[in-house]
Amino acid sequence: MSFTCFTGGRIVTSTGQFDADILVENGTIVAVGSFPQLDTDSIELVDCTGKYVLPGGVDVHTHLDSPLMGTTTADDFESGTIAAACGGTTTIVDFAMQPTGVRLTDALDTHLAKAQGKAVIDYGMHMCITDLYDGATQEFGEIAQAGVSSFKVFMAYRGTLMLHDGQLYDVLRAASGVGSQVCVHAENGDVIDRIAADLVAAGKTGPGTHEIARPPATEVEAVERAIRIGRMADAPLYFVHLSTAGAVEAVAAAQGRDWPVAAETCTHYLTLDRELYDQPGFEPAKVVLTPPLRTREHRDALWSGLSAGTLSVVSSDHCPFCFADKERLAGADFRSIPNGGPGVEHRMSVVYGKGVAQGRITLEKFVALTSTIPAQQFGLHPRKGHIAPGADADLVLLDPDGTTTITAATQNQAVDYTPYEGWSLPGSFDAVYSRGELVARRGRYVGKAGRGRFLHRATR
Ligand code: URP
Ligand code: ZN
Ligand code: ZN
Ligand code: ZN
Repeated sequence: MSFTCFTGGRIVTSTGQFDADILVENGTIVAVGSFPQLDTDSIELVDCTGKYVLPGGVDVHTHLDSPLMGTTTADDFESGTIAAACGGTTTIVDFAMQPTGVRLTDALDTHLAKAQGKAVIDYGMHMCITDLYDGATQEFGEIAQAGVSSFKVFMAYRGTLMLHDGQLYDVLRAASGVGSQVCVHAENGDVIDRIAADLVAAGKTGPGTHEIARPPATEVEAVERAIRIGRMADAPLYFVHLSTAGAVEAVAAAQGRDWPVAAETCTHYLTLDRELYDQPGFEPAKVVLTPPLRTREHRDALWSGLSAGTLSVVSSDHCPFCFADKERLAGADFRSIPNGGPGVEHRMSVVYGKGVAQGRITLEKFVALTSTIPAQQFGLHPRKGHIAPGADADLVLLDPDGTTTITAATQNQAVDYTPYEGWSLPGSFDAVYSRGELVARRGRYVGKAGRGRFLHRATR
């Protein structure tokens, strides 16, 4: 038996905060309260005085060791989960990508093998469907049985990742039939491809052009269309990485009719401005993300959407490529720059620093958006995202008087830049525990290698 007691801290959940101790046995929370009679010889004490004790972050949108746009994302399951842990995230749900021509179950096995023995925090998987071959939907039950109860589909990237509307309908029908949910990348890919081709023909080829090729309406239209297709399929929807005011409006309208539509936004859409595309040289490639960064007006709408509950999750969409590799892989124009950026390490700090510390959201809301609701949405709650008996002791000690400084030179993410370079933010996630084990202290990994476990997620 191994007991630990986290004493003297202020516990914060998605619904409230209170002073209490947390008793942990073999990695599981067994009691929350006051324990004056503890035999301190046989119990390890963790002094949390002056700290907030939060459930560890749950990031449901990462791409580790993943094939994408002719290359592979820069973090594998070791560096990516170490970076996550150092930033206060104790659970990820990663996207298993299906290469064209590969069976879904085989692609899933390949991705699971990449994580096995390397991940240092617990992880689940979503299955990305990019090639809906005959019989693919018949594998959905088997995939759900394997604990992978969500899919992702792309409405953009025709020819490589995109499914057409009929296929989206088929996936929604089949997934809901086995109790799985579908995550939708909503952008009108065909319109984007035409705008991009026109821009290139007009000689506009630089990295910042990526933004002009993907105007807000390409997201809004796809969100509205997917909602309609979801109704026709009688299936729930989860929108990933929403970036626009119009998308928030469309989701709110659907929710107002009691349609089962949920949505996330990401750290960067809340905090970074489109003006980064106006930088000289190849710098804008650092933020060649899909969808692109937007203006202040959209950011305000996203924060309002979080406050109103229209958007209920903040994920990182950690999809890292080295700046040097983005440059090397860029061909004649912006279309060949790998789309994505790093962020799993800094999601918690940036959302706390720009959200809670600036009075945009409460600390309880922060816990809801970064931990509890993502865990609920993806079948991980009450084991994850929760501080109560029976939950895993995934705990983060937040020092509200500390400071977090973000630089590429000191980050754990295996990339040569961060879009938050030089940011100094109030609050520091000083100590991070996964199943009761200290895994990170002041931004450095101190846990064992390969200790993460696969999380078998239930269907709905
Ligand atoms: O910038 C992004 N989002 N990269 C591609 C992966 C995705 O989620 O679409
Ligand atoms: Zn996407
Ligand atoms: Zn993504
Ligand atoms: Zn590199």
